[in-house]
Amino acid sequence: MTATSVPAESAAGHPDPYRFVDSQTNPDKLIQALELRGRTPAQARLRRRFLSMLRLRRGERVLEVGSGSGVVLRDLAAAVGDRGEVVGIDPSARAVAFARRLSRGREHRCIKVRVGDGMHLPFRTPRFDAALAVTVVLHVADPETLVREMVRVVRPGGRVGLQDQDFGTLAVTHPDRELTDRILDGVVHHIYEEPHSGRRLPGLLRAAGLEDVRLRTDVYQDTELEPYTKAFLERRAELGVRFGLVDAPAAQRWLDGFTALVAARAFVMTINFYGAVGIKPTGALGTKPSGALGTKPARARRG
Ligand SMILES: C[S@@+](CC[C@H](N)C(=O)[O-])C[C@H]1O[C@@H](n2cnc3c(N)ncnc32)[C@H](O)[C@@H]1O
Repeated sequence: MTATSVPAESAAGHPDPYRFVDSQTNPDKLIQALELRGRTPAQARLRRRFLSMLRLRRGERVLEVGSGSGVVLRDLAAAVGDRGEVVGIDPSARAVAFARRLSRGREHRCIKVRVGDGMHLPFRTPRFDAALAVTVVLHVADPETLVREMVRVVRPGGRVGLQDQDFGTLAVTHPDRELTDRILDGVVHHIYEEPHSGRRLPGLLRAAGLEDVRLRTDVYQDTELEPYTKAFLERRAELGVRFGLVDAPAAQRWLDGFTALVAARAFVMTINFYGAVGIKPTGALGTKPSGALGTKPARARRG
């Protein structure tokens, strides 16, 4: 392992709160929101279906890039057991401290969490059997570099996996369609460089030279307005006001519309989560020129 590094990019004024968590006014709230999302049963189910694509075995070494509150790390620990190793990397020192606190139990002994940047992973050699990033690609400026780094630290024959939601697939019931689009579309285009990152994941893995890339699309569905969904919509309303897309009374009217739908048992929100996993070739790694996303790479020669 080499020395820890953190993103060199400036945090000043970046609209995506998960780009630089520790520079936000409310980092602990952001980290708790990740834990709330991760524990929401429908989210836990779709995360575990994605993790099953990695085919983790007892005793394996696995790296999670962008480990946040550690909710994924704890699932990984259950998969590899105490003879395995689970390493989490996150640039947020607050998130790392939070994840360490929640992984103190005996069953989490194999978990190690440290501060670091996915763009410069602090490992010299390909020491992992698998590496993954869950809802991280959406938040980084250069997903190609992130994936290249993940591939570098995985052994030949090892697996690299990405899971991300795709905001182009967010569907929600509301009587005021125009207001809903103004807030939801407006906010994502303010925050993210690529709000449709989910559907790009297989292309990203192939462009990094991975083989046998598989895709699984899952849907987060909520008809009850779960606490996580409610917090998500409230945050969208708050950001809609902050970015000048709507005024505060319109944002409140928008939120009240959801409350009325729940009372009428007519609330529905869905969003697609894309999970993609590829294998690092055992021969020389074939690289693709950037801009070739979504095309099938030539297979790397073996031996
Ligand atoms: C939406 S959270 C996902 C956390 C966790 N994977 C989960 O699913 O609950 C995104 C995480 O990526 C981290 N992150 C942001 N930029 C990063 C980078 N350059 N390298 C690694 N992680 C990064 C953030 O600090 C945050 O913890």
